[in-house]
Amino acid sequence: MARLTGRTVLVTGAASGIGAASSRRLAADGAQLLLADIDGPGVEKLAAELGQAAVRADVTRGEDVDRMIGEAYTRWGRLDVLFNNAGVVRLQPMLEVTHDEWDRVMSVNLRAVFFVLQAVARRMLDQGVMQESELRGKLIQTASIASYRGGNHLMTPYSASKAGVVSLTRSAAQALAPHRITSNCVCPGAVETPMWEQIDKEWGALEGLGQGEAWKRRIRHIPLGRPERAEDVAGVVAFLAGPDSDYMTGQALNVDGGLVMGN
Ligand SMILES: NC(=O)c1ccc[n+]([C@@H]2O[C@H](COP(=O)([O-])OP(=O)(O)OC[C@H]3O[C@@H](n4cnc5c(N)ncnc54)[C@H](O)[C@@H]3O)[C@@H](O)[C@H]2O)c1
Repeated sequence: MARLTGRTVLVTGAASGIGAASSRRLAADGAQLLLADIDGPGVEKLAAELGQAAVRADVTRGEDVDRMIGEAYTRWGRLDVLFNNAGVVRLQPMLEVTHDEWDRVMSVNLRAVFFVLQAVARRMLDQGVMQESELRGKLIQTASIASYRGGNHLMTPYSASKAGVVSLTRSAAQALAPHRITSNCVCPGAVETPMWEQIDKEWGALEGLGQGEAWKRRIRHIPLGRPERAEDVAGVVAFLAGPDSDYMTGQALNVDGGLVMGN
């Protein structure tokens, strides 16, 4: 039997990158998925490919969040795992960050991550334990090693938002442990996804670098000697969604080829 057979999982930011790779991996491991993204056609295409369900939802909008979570409960009557992964980035010199830009990044990466987590946790409180588990449910967030490194000065709001995700992961772990709900997060390093294509472009424009130069600079320092793939993160997400991590809560797992250690 596959490790996740019978587990129901809601994935946000599922249309691309880490969310898409994790959805593929969770489906291969036997989970039933509801894939959510602001990119409706993107998430419907992936869901059709995997034989899973999709919902278009902007995680910053309360009504979309209610509809998205409602869809999971209508479909399954319960939700075992939330992979709270949607995120955005924008590179700007620290001294040029505007209020609007700060709010935009925080609204997706921190405010929405918290309110999606809170809304799911409220519903999980009313459900029984998962099959073959002592837990009612599991919450998994995507933070980043930028939360420890401070990223660099070109990603100030992003890094602050991800530090916030680590913090609220721990708050939720403490608040929900008595209810047998766990909360953990993954902290990827520099992952080859459309988000990094955007970082490369914006960083290049700010520092006069050619296409691919910023990426090369970043991956040069990875101790394990190769760029990170979305599948590297997906394996750890599958571990956090599955029974082998049921006794872990409040943890932030670096999945970064050693990048956070420096070289
Ligand atoms: N790529 C990296 O190097 C890296 C490193 C550390 C952490 N992360 C984090 O991993 C997560 C996934 O990033 P990725 O690299 O796969 O990026 P990506 O851009 O490939 O995918 C992000 C997905 O989130 C969706 N999304 C954005 N705003 C949304 C909203 N308001 N509502 C619903 N969906 C929304 C996008 O449509 C997209 O499908 C993000 O939280 C990101 O911050 C990425």
